[in-house]
Amino acid sequence: MGDLGAGLSHYHKQGFCSFHTPGHKGRQEFFIGLDFRGFDLTELPGLDMLHSPYGIIAKAQKRAAEIFGAEETFFLVNGGTVGNQAMFLALEDTADKRVAVERSSHRSVMSALVLSGLKPDYLLPIIHPDFNLPLGLDVKKQQISWQGLSACHVTYPSYYGTGFELSRLVDERTRLEFETPILVDQAHGSHYLGSLFPPSALKVGADLVLHSSHKTLSALTQSAMLHVQGSRVSRTRLRQSLEFLQSSSPSYLFLASLERAGEFALDSGRWECLREAVDELHRKVGTGFRILSGEDVGTYGIHTVDWSKILINTLPLGISAPRCVEYLREGFGIEPELWDEENILFMLGIGNTPEDIRWLTKGLESLIDFAPSVASRIIKKGVERLVPKILPLPRRILSPREAFFAHKHQIPLKQSLGHIVGETISPYPPGIPVVVMGEQMTQEVLDRLLTAGEGRWQGWDGFENQTIWIVEEG
Ligand SMILES: Cc1ncc(COP(=O)(O)O)c(C=O)c1O
Repeated sequence: MGDLGAGLSHYHKQGFCSFHTPGHKGRQEFFIGLDFRGFDLTELPGLDMLHSPYGIIAKAQKRAAEIFGAEETFFLVNGGTVGNQAMFLALEDTADKRVAVERSSHRSVMSALVLSGLKPDYLLPIIHPDFNLPLGLDVKKQQISWQGLSACHVTYPSYYGTGFELSRLVDERTRLEFETPILVDQAHGSHYLGSLFPPSALKVGADLVLHSSHKTLSALTQSAMLHVQGSRVSRTRLRQSLEFLQSSSPSYLFLASLERAGEFALDSGRWECLREAVDELHRKVGTGFRILSGEDVGTYGIHTVDWSKILINTLPLGISAPRCVEYLREGFGIEPELWDEENILFMLGIGNTPEDIRWLTKGLESLIDFAPSVASRIIKKGVERLVPKILPLPRRILSPREAFFAHKHQIPLKQSLGHIVGETISPYPPGIPVVVMGEQMTQEVLDRLLTAGEGRWQGWDGFENQTIWIVEEG
């Protein structure tokens, strides 16, 4: 079978209870009638073409647009990543132009900056003092210089399910009479339909909206959608950009799974029963941990909270998040989406059941009982945590594109203070860069990388031998 196949088989056999992507959670019901061998086809007669659709693909995309409230929808087979990249490439006349973008964006947005050559005007999220994570954005306080801006790109919701006041951003553009496109990375909110969830970005008035449909809906991993409304972005350019970026052999299994994901998304009953189980989880274990909840709305730049992302901070329990994860994995077979030193994110998808959530509740209750016996307690952080911080911003010397194409060499990480970093480095997940290529290495970033430990990192070529690419100067 080979090592890869054996690894997958071994993992699958352990039968973990999934609180991570993909949203279908391996449930058969989403794939009935989808013949994995028989339907793995290419663009044959009668099967249409993804890049110039006129038949069955065109029809399926039209139906998806209807379901999600777009004027037009493009199916993506290279993940949400390609959606962020295409949004930027589709913008016209970008030479030396700026784009407003959150510094805490996913790394695919940073690669979109390299591809397009756009220069970022960073929007700085607020670091939540309880979670030490960028959860909110205060639109009132962000000075957006709309004049000459090619676009404003924002992430709504965050990986952790928090949404900022997107409507204020859209209203501000209208009030100031600009036609700047608002592009939204709604990768983690494909399921925002109906009253159970915050309003979708399309409803709020965004121009382009990205859904990573595989994250919370039932589409196969790597399947996503890009929705469009209005005429602020050229549809022709968007189509061309997607053709540049996507495979010329799109998977029909992905496409068919996207078509189905839209129909399943309409079944709000699947989410209603999960909601009740999540409420019960909050009641039962909410005092043992700090759990993000609806009560956080209105604080630290948070305007909406998606209850289907269960973010718990383990500091009140006095045990590190990795230790808690170990306990839950080993004792309960529970697999979260991600964790850091003090937070764990459990992500629900349309394939979860109330039983899954009750099992998680049981695991967390057991963890609370187990806590007093744990010797290795973590120490509560210093006073600076009591006030919210704005995400610190290293000084940008070169644009990401300039840095990407510059001459570079590798040096020991320890010696990199003050140098222009030549790679974009992110812990993965969540894929939010600690440093973006073209930025100057600061002591804070250096400390973070020097203490990186065994975590999973992306974009860091010299992780193993503790080196880093820097741009050659002078
Ligand atoms: C906020 C955000 N945007 C975009 C992406 C990219 O989506 P995909 O993994 O489907 O390529 C991710 C992936 O984690 C993400 O977290």
